[in-house]
Amino acid sequence: PMFKEWFGLSEMEDKIRRHYGLKRVYIVPGDSDTSKTAKRELGRAASQALTRLLNKDDVVAVTGGTTMAQVANHLTVPVPLPTNWFVPARGGLGESLDYQANTIASMMAKRTGAQYRLLHVPDHLGEEAYVTLMQEPNIQEIVNVIRKARIVVHGIGDAMVMARRRKVDQASVDAMRTEGALAESFGYYFDRNGAVVHKMHTAGLRLEDIVATEVVIAVAGGVSKGEAIAAVMKFGHDDVLVTDEAAAQVIVRII
Ligand code: BG6
Repeated sequence: PMFKEWFGLSEMEDKIRRHYGLKRVYIVPGDSDTSKTAKRELGRAASQALTRLLNKDDVVAVTGGTTMAQVANHLTVPVPLPTNWFVPARGGLGESLDYQANTIASMMAKRTGAQYRLLHVPDHLGEEAYVTLMQEPNIQEIVNVIRKARIVVHGIGDAMVMARRRKVDQASVDAMRTEGALAESFGYYFDRNGAVVHKMHTAGLRLEDIVATEVVIAVAGGVSKGEAIAAVMKFGHDDVLVTDEAAAQVIVRII
């Protein structure tokens, strides 16, 4: 049974990788919606995927979320990385401190002996606040570092779940639903074809930065996120996907 299971996972890895033109796909056993072990293993696999790709002097931008917190928990390197930087991809979500991108970036830096910078602004900014904040030299400086990251590691969520967590106003939620929003990632909402149906002003990474980033790593699992992951893969700017068996089964059924 062990061998069969392993074979099944690697077959799915191959199928998903080829379908979306990804460089690597890693699938851990189980369903991280219901299994703490699966979610931990997802974090471990993603931290290994990251360290394999990490070069000297790299700036790594990370999002928040419970999955990314698991990635941070498992990150280890054989020798300290004093010339690497970890930065949050975006501002704060107003969630529990443990799951904010700032916390995750600083934790990753501490675990690897690297440097970090924080972005002390809310993720969701009105037009006016955005323009004003972006004139602050301190904020400009960190935003420039973030937007130059060589590696981005991000979570993926179900659109409606994340809209609630991000406290998006009801009118926007309704509009998004009408437009078929399925997935959320780094503050953008995608439909099943990977088209962006909603975005908000952000001091952090914008879509054009993601498109230009050399290495983009997505980390998400659980049967509830299968469709959302497929939607973001359709968007097509990830290089590596780290997921679990339950989500992979949903993805394989879609493709
Ligand atoms: C957020 C990321 O912090 O985490 C989102 O910015 C992602 O892109 C979300 O959708 C997923 O969170 P979780 O807790 O389900 O891993």
